Amino acid sequence: MLGLVVIAICLLDSAASTKPSFCHDLDCPNYTVLRSFGGYELRRYEMSQWVTTRDLMTSYDSHKNSQMFFKLFHYISGNNTAGMKIPMTAPVVDIYTPGVGENNQQTVMEMHFMIPHNMQPYPPAPTDPTVYISMLPALDVYVKSFGGFSDHMTNLVKITELKNEINNSSLYYGDHFYTAGYDGPYSVNRHNEVWLAAKH
Ligand SMILES: *[C@@H]1O[C@H](CO)[C@@H](O)[C@H](O)[C@H]1NC(C)=O
Ligand SMILES: *[C@@H]1O[C@H](CO)[C@@H](O)[C@H](O)[C@H]1NC(C)=O
Ligand SMILES: *[C@@H]1O[C@H](CO)[C@@H](O)[C@H](O)[C@H]1NC(C)=O
Ligand SMILES: *[C@@H]1O[C@H](CO)[C@@H](O)[C@H](O)[C@H]1NC(C)=O
Repeated sequence: MLGLVVIAICLLDSAASTKPSFCHDLDCPNYTVLRSFGGYELRRYEMSQWVTTRDLMTSYDSHKNSQMFFKLFHYISGNNTAGMKIPMTAPVVDIYTPGVGENNQQTVMEMHFMIPHNMQPYPPAPTDPTVYISMLPALDVYVKSFGGFSDHMTNLVKITELKNEINNSSLYYGDHFYTAGYDGPYSVNRHNEVWLAAKH
């Protein structure tokens, strides 16, 4: 009996210690590192549910970006069918798919907050019709991490660096990319990532 308790505590302990420090005290999606390279790594994420909103942009639009953020923020603040407050998670993941719409001049931007682990199976439905629950399938991604304050230009530079470092465009999907931000606007010790979905 005591043995079982000790094992259970060890399991809890190892689950907690594998959470990266850059998630702070927030729930963040589970992953394993499949391979580390010099300036980047290949991660495997488990399937997970997120709350999502999307918009179309002709060029990067920080006003639209913050509107999207607040739609998702309102969902976790209680604008959902359960009227429930939902804890913030990390990271905020944006997916950019350029080259769509009229003359392929537009970019689809999707913004995602992860549903906390204990609510993953049954998140309450959003009440805002432009906000929806989406399932991110199990996914392998190439990840480049960097510190400091990031903005859209920095993310584009880091994506280009990641592509150059991978140096083989048949290893990833080049038609879309991910950004992951782990910090609120006032944090000092910041962690940012850009991701490319790996091809197999
Ligand atoms: C992911 O990790 C969290 C916390 O570390 C845990 O509660 C959850 O059960 C894990 N999910 C899976 C599918 O293992
Ligand atoms: C909550 O959602 C409704 C749509 O169902 C929307 O009209 C309202 O502005 C939202 N409220 C907030 C605070 O986001
Ligand atoms: C990139 O790959 C090519 C072969 O496709 C190789 O010749 C070149 O050295 C590589 N560059 C770097 C920086 O690894
Ligand atoms: C690039 O990756 C593809 C797919 O794995 C592989 O077949 C090819 O040999 C790689 N090219 C180079 C130059 O390494």
